[in-house]
Amino acid sequence: MSDTPTIATPLTLPSGLRLANRLVKASMSEGLARDDGRPDARLERLYTRWSEGGAAMLLTGNVMIDARYLEHCGNPILDARADLEAFRRWARAGKSHGSAMIAQISHPGRQVSRFVAPTPLAPSDGPAVKLMAAFGRPRAMTEAEIEDAIERFARTSSLAREAGFDGVEIHAAHGYLVSQFLSPLVNRRGDRWGGALENRARLLVEIVRACRRATTRDFTIGVKLNSADFQRGGFDEDDAVKVIELLGGEGIDFLELSGGNYESMALFGVAEDGAPLRASTRAREAYFLDFARTARAHARMPVLLTGGMRTRQGMDEALGSGAVDLVGLARPLCVSPDLPRELVSGRVDRAPAIEPPPFGVRALDPLAAPAWYGAQLARMGRGEAPDPSMGARLAALRYVANDALRGPRRRRAGLARA
Ligand SMILES: Cc1cc2nc3c(=O)[nH]c(=O)nc-3n(C[C@H](O)[C@H](O)[C@H](O)COP(=O)(O)O)c2cc1C
Repeated sequence: MSDTPTIATPLTLPSGLRLANRLVKASMSEGLARDDGRPDARLERLYTRWSEGGAAMLLTGNVMIDARYLEHCGNPILDARADLEAFRRWARAGKSHGSAMIAQISHPGRQVSRFVAPTPLAPSDGPAVKLMAAFGRPRAMTEAEIEDAIERFARTSSLAREAGFDGVEIHAAHGYLVSQFLSPLVNRRGDRWGGALENRARLLVEIVRACRRATTRDFTIGVKLNSADFQRGGFDEDDAVKVIELLGGEGIDFLELSGGNYESMALFGVAEDGAPLRASTRAREAYFLDFARTARAHARMPVLLTGGMRTRQGMDEALGSGAVDLVGLARPLCVSPDLPRELVSGRVDRAPAIEPPPFGVRALDPLAAPAWYGAQLARMGRGEAPDPSMGARLAALRYVANDALRGPRRRRAGLARA
């Protein structure tokens, strides 16, 4: 038998976590928890469905470390006040058919709608995220607030372990807080948390160390990192290589590669000006495969590549080349939850070409599309099948209304407190 790995080859992570195959459900913010951040039957149904679908590892959507700073209303919140029994039921659901269950832990920094957090935190004062005036102007975090955030990441990791999750993934990509610290555009601090790359990466490294101290070596800790922010003067591939080298000494169990943020949607294969990424990148289907090849030479941990992977051949080639160890799938699993099992068994050889209908305003398509995918998750949470014929406008409206209505309601009810 050949030693060349395929999507069907098992893998054991450095933590000892055994994965039955190489397919991972990538994180997708579900927005299905209650106002107080408690997961309920909807998240249990959705993750049972995905576990049946056969991915070896399920990465949850953003699980927030601080009830004041959500990425989106309906994010689960795993802090000292959390109902651990509810998280235990959710973890059990995700593991019900043999998948490993990993909580993606996160702080949005400045990238949060003004309805959810009118004055968000960031490495430096202003500017607000440039996207339809939906984001508040952030203020710079104090040293004490940075230390507090590190402690909260650690506490959330420890609670995730207690609740039966197999591990956590620290969200350091897509323009959220840790990614903001990494970015020379957003992080203009002059202290030990800003400036040189070693300083900009300090928050990430300190969070990894604190999460490790708060858990055990058999608890999986992963990091999601941008290959680049795809913004002029922003975090670039050279920075990413240096961060990967720094993480090499920290004993993480996997590194997920992605790219972009709300201002530059490379994560969805879209360039900063809204046009599709280079044709060659799309043709090769994996948006960040070129960078993964570069990263391989520096990465001492298993590498998970997410973004645009759609065919068994493309996945097998990426795995077989040795550039990556795991393949992440997000949008296809909103409409085809059984895709991992079907790919591994050979019943299908590609994700069905199902995409949201156009929003009608090209510049808004990349924003409306995530809302449409999110609405499919809500359907599965209700026990319904995905509906590819669903319109994009209503989904987008619901997405915006969710934050506009629930954000102020949470604050009035005293739920947005430290
Ligand atoms: C509805 C939706 C929600 C998402 N939420 C998250 C998230 O919570 N955390 C994260 O790291 N990425 C999130 N992503 C990005 C995906 O994890 C992934 O990087 C991206 O969709 C590219 O992979 P794909 O081409 O397989 O969809 C989200 C994507 C979608 C469509």
